[in-house]
Amino acid sequence: MDAELDRLWPQAAPGLSDEEILEALDGPCLRMNFVSSIDGAVTRDGHSGGLSGAADKRFFGLLRRWSDVVLVAAGTVRTEGYADMRVDEASARWRTGHGRTAHPVFAIVTGSLDLDPESPIFTAAPERPILFTTEAAVARHGARFAGLAELCVTSGTEVDGSAIASALRSRGLERILCEGGPALFGSLLQADVVDELCLTVEPTLEAGDAGRIARGRIPSRAMRLVSVLQSEGTLLLRYVRAR
Ligand SMILES: NC(=O)c1ccc[n+]([C@@H]2O[C@H](COP(=O)([O-])OP(=O)(O)OC[C@H]3O[C@@H](n4cnc5c(N)ncnc54)[C@H](OP(=O)(O)O)[C@@H]3O)[C@@H](O)[C@H]2O)c1
Repeated sequence: MDAELDRLWPQAAPGLSDEEILEALDGPCLRMNFVSSIDGAVTRDGHSGGLSGAADKRFFGLLRRWSDVVLVAAGTVRTEGYADMRVDEASARWRTGHGRTAHPVFAIVTGSLDLDPESPIFTAAPERPILFTTEAAVARHGARFAGLAELCVTSGTEVDGSAIASALRSRGLERILCEGGPALFGSLLQADVVDELCLTVEPTLEAGDAGRIARGRIPSRAMRLVSVLQSEGTLLLRYVRAR
């Protein structure tokens, strides 16, 4: 049984259906999705999964259903133990019914290519993954991914956020869902290519030394609140970039 989600703002509406939530999301953009505690922790015991409750999980699944591509940094891929990028059956049915591929493309950003080519990310991928990486990493490890992934290569030590956004769009992947982590969010904010942030605030206090949702040095980026959903004290906030 899925968690109930009520809209509190702008117009109150109880018990939103999947379709109502998806309708509000539609339109191509680069959307970030994070979960945090009230005091801003993005992990419990080193994982975001420890923080995420039933409402966040439902919304997370719907964001993947919406997306053409799920973009994730290698640090998060390693820490959270990502596998092949597959949505559940209901989402796959919805997607094919809306003229999309059954599953989104998985795109990973890695300066090092320190990823396991034998992981199901590559060996069981329903769509060919894309690796955003550097020339130096390709020279060292590129051959291991031949035939397993498309390599999108940059010359410096870091992949530029605007290069990522434009490379995805040029492949027709316009609904971009980025699931983090904080370093990649910083790169995308630096390039000012983030259109939206979906932030779930779980009603817990964690203290400790957990990180924040974004890292790095950027000019302040103003965001505008567009909707507030709630479920048993969990808030699901949606912000768009105020340009
Ligand atoms: N609460 C949430 O919603 C949420 C969401 C996501 C992650 N997290 C948490 O965040 C933590 C992971 O954070 P993290 O510090 O590892 O940050 P991260 O952004 O997940 O990963 C950083 C790594 O990704 C690659 N990377 C990111 N941006 C890059 C760029 N512009 N160019 C080249 N490579 C880039 C590099 O990989 P290489 O090392 O391969 O070069 C870098 O070391 C985990 O604890 C995870 O649980 C929480």
